[in-house]
Parts: sequence; C-alpha cells; structure tokens
Amino acid sequence: MVVAMAFPRRLLRILGPIAVVLLATVIVSQLIANKGLASPWSASSRQSNANYERVPPKYDPKRMHLLIPATSTNHHLCQLLTTAALMGYPAPVLINYGAPEDKDDYKQHLTKVAGVLDYLHSLPESEDDELVFMIDGFDAWFQLPGNVMLKRYYDTVEAGHRQNVASYGQDVVDENGIRDTVIFGSDKVCWPGGWERPACWAVPESRLSSKSFGPYTDQGALEHTRPRWLNSGTIMGPVREVRDVFEAAQRKIEENHVTDSDQYYFGIVQGEQSYKRRILKMEADQAKGYDISEMELFLRPKRPEKDIPKPPKGARTEYYIGIDYESNLWQTIAYYDEYLTWVRHNISEQYMPGVMGWDYQYPNYILPDDLVSFSRSPLSASARPNDARNVNDDMPEELFSWSTVPLVVNTASMTIPPVVHFTGKKAYREIWWGRSWFYPHQKSMLEALRRRGPVKTGPHRDAAAGAWTLLDKELGWVDWEDGLCQPFERKLQGLEELDPSELGFGNNWG
Ligand SMILES: *[C@@H]1O[C@H](CO)[C@@H](O)[C@H](O)[C@H]1NC(C)=O
Repeated sequence: MVVAMAFPRRLLRILGPIAVVLLATVIVSQLIANKGLASPWSASSRQSNANYERVPPKYDPKRMHLLIPATSTNHHLCQLLTTAALMGYPAPVLINYGAPEDKDDYKQHLTKVAGVLDYLHSLPESEDDELVFMIDGFDAWFQLPGNVMLKRYYDTVEAGHRQNVASYGQDVVDENGIRDTVIFGSDKVCWPGGWERPACWAVPESRLSSKSFGPYTDQGALEHTRPRWLNSGTIMGPVREVRDVFEAAQRKIEENHVTDSDQYYFGIVQGEQSYKRRILKMEADQAKGYDISEMELFLRPKRPEKDIPKPPKGARTEYYIGIDYESNLWQTIAYYDEYLTWVRHNISEQYMPGVMGWDYQYPNYILPDDLVSFSRSPLSASARPNDARNVNDDMPEELFSWSTVPLVVNTASMTIPPVVHFTGKKAYREIWWGRSWFYPHQKSMLEALRRRGPVKTGPHRDAAAGAWTLLDKELGWVDWEDGLCQPFERKLQGLEELDPSELGFGNNWG
C-alpha cells in the first residue's frame, strides 16, 4: 500500500476497491495453486473438456521424436509405453525392434548407438531443429506429461548456460560457442571405468548445493554423493546436435572398443569436451595475467595419475553436452532412493501433525509452478479439444488434480521428475509401479482412450495406438493390440503373477 499513498485521494477511492479485489484473487489463486486446496471451479472443469490444454508448439510433445531402443517387447517396456499412452506422448520409435536378441545386455547398448543414428540419418534436413528424446526401454517410465518435460528441458539448457558462464566466463562461452543443449541424465557414480578417466575427473561439478545431501555431502557413502556424471539412458536435444553426439560416440566405439556399455563412449566425448572447456578458461586467465598454476596442475599434472585427453589437433571437442543434475527431467534411482519420497501434496501438511504451528518445520512440499501452470491434472495430458464433455465423468476424483495423486519427489533438489529411471535396484520397477498415480486407474484410462479412438494413421500417432519400429533402416509399425502391450495389460494391472525371471532382482547399472 506504500504505492497507494502517493496517489491522489480521489483516484484511490476508485482504484482502491479494484486493487483489493485483485489482491484477494491473487491470494486465493496462490493458495489454491500452492496448497492444492480443492478448487471451487473443479466441478465445472469436470463437466467440460476445460481440462484440455493449448500447448505452444515449443512445448508440444507430439512434435518430439521419442526413441526407445528395444529389440523386443516385454512387461517392462510396456510399463514405459503404458505411461506414454496415458499422458498423451507420441507413438515412440522402437529402435532395433525385432533384431536378434543378444544375450548380453551391453552388446545391445552398442547396437543402440547405431540404431538411433540410423533413425536420425533418415530424417530430412528440415527436421534438424526438432527435439529428439531417447530413453532406454526396459527400466523407466513417465510420471509427468510431455509438455512439462519439454519446459524443464529449456530450463535445464538455461541452467547449463548460467553454470558455463560462472565456470568459464562470458567471453570464453561466447567466443567458443559453448552451450549445453544435448542433455543427458545424471548419475551419482562415474561408470564404467576408473577415476583416471576424464569422463570422471574432468567433467563439471554438480549444480546441486554442496550440502544437498547433508553435512557429509560428497564424503563417504555413495548415497551422499551429488549427481555429477553422465547417464546415457536418457538423452534429449535438437536432432542435429544429438546426431553429432551419437556420431562422436560411434567413432569412439570404432576407434577403441573396450566395453559394451554405450555410456562409456558418451562419457569419453563429454570428458574431452569438459577438458577442452577447462583449458580454454585457463588460457583466457593466462592471457589476462592471472595466476593459473593451480589450474595447470589440475589439467596438466607432472606425474599423471589420470588420463589426459589428446584429441588430434583441430578435432572437434565441443558437442554441447550438458547434464540434468537436478533431475528436473529424469530421476535415476541408484544411490538416490533414500532421497526420494512419495508425496500427495494435498495432505503433505499433515505429515508432521505435531508441529503444525511451526511454519519453518513444515515439509516444504509444494507443487512446482511449472507443473501447475503447464498441466492441469493427470487426465489433462491426454485430453483433446474435441473430447466429449462427459469423457471423464467416471474417472476417480483424485485424477482431476496433481495435488491429490502420489508423486515421486526428489528431496535433495526438491523437484518432481517427469521420468523415473530404475538404475541400480531393478526390483523397484515392481514395487513402485503399484504406488504410482496411474495405478490402478490405468485400466479405465486406457479403456477411455480406446473408446475415444487413438490416432492410428498419419505421421503423428498416439502411443496408445502402438509404436513405430526401426530395424535395418526399415521403418515399420506395430499395433498396441498386435502383441505389443496388450498381452501385458493384465500383469501390469496386478491381475496375473509375474514370472520370477520378469522381476529382474539384482543389480544392473544400465
Ligand atoms: C486429498 O486427496 C485425497 C484423494 O483425492 C482425498 O481422499 C483427501 O480427502 C484429500 N485431503 C485433503 C485434506 O484435501
């Protein structure tokens, strides 16, 4: 009201009430948005398709190339495809689908690089700026819709830019065209290989705060380590730039094939990029006459216990690789599970009933603004503008708001990740499936999608209709009902026992 004091009295009499009403509206809507109170308008949103969201092209998941390396279908691939269908993702392209199964998981990882490249090379130049998202097929699923994930992608690109400017300086960033636009998932371990690898020691520091995992952050137990290293199970960026990164990784495989994990080779590419960025910073500092002895010791140690990248002179090292340190896009599980929790935001205040009066002790579980403003509810992600008014009438009340469904929250970076990626403890795929917001509603949601009719023809098809396949550079199509996921629906619904071999207990770092 300090501003109002400067106004003439007459104007204040006119504007005052308007301001009060505006202020009240803002407060009420903030309360609803932040605290997840039942919205007084939720009744009307049930009756119409007001749930449908107009998505600007930039954030339209239908325009994204969704690539999933998977040689065959199974229960776990269908966990991913079911969540893709429920949240209106485009029909994915199954890379290498139908290829002879290699018993060795990791050999398959290498065919993944070649298969994704085949797809990217098949696209016309006019699609070079479109976004591609590659996700491993057997240990991940979506938690949030695609428009939220795309919004987080652009946030992550910006966060990478701020980090680069802070680390190397604006001049070095500008003069060398440094940017982070090909985003990889993050890991708490550098794997595979030893610490001498540039992929382990030369890469940037994590963006999470140095106390994000408590007072012993980065000390002792791996659980306390900040995510700093690349995970190649999730990769997103513009077609042209992702293609360059895959080509670079492919060259590393051809030059020196030492392991069958694709992550190893992507790590080499990021390691060389990171090393070169640090060198550029050091040279810029030197030119300014700063003391660079410490940096020099780090980058060019006298008695090297670490490998120093030596790319041929003039070879490209900048590939625009960045990391989703915050898991604003994708959440890996390995060494992270102690910092992940399930939250129903509408009741999170009741998690500590004894200290209700102590504001500062509340668990700070508030739905993030971008989720609230980009996606109205779990049901809205698959809504279409011409949906019948009553299409969702039979759906359970809780699916009409993100605040009433259980969501995985990362308590270190306080984010709600759009993808949960089960690295490490594979059994979590079974344990967490039944906890997720779509369970057990997936059955009725899929039925509703089928009644409405998934888009099954043309270039932009629904994930609920099936999937594209790419084998030996041939593009094909497999229907959901034609053996892709329909045979697994009963198991995913918990109506049939899983075969012990499907449980996948034990550790596997893919
Ligand atoms: C939170 O949401 C659940 C599920 O819809 C509902 O049963 C419960 O009454 C809600 N609680 C509050 C405090 O709004």
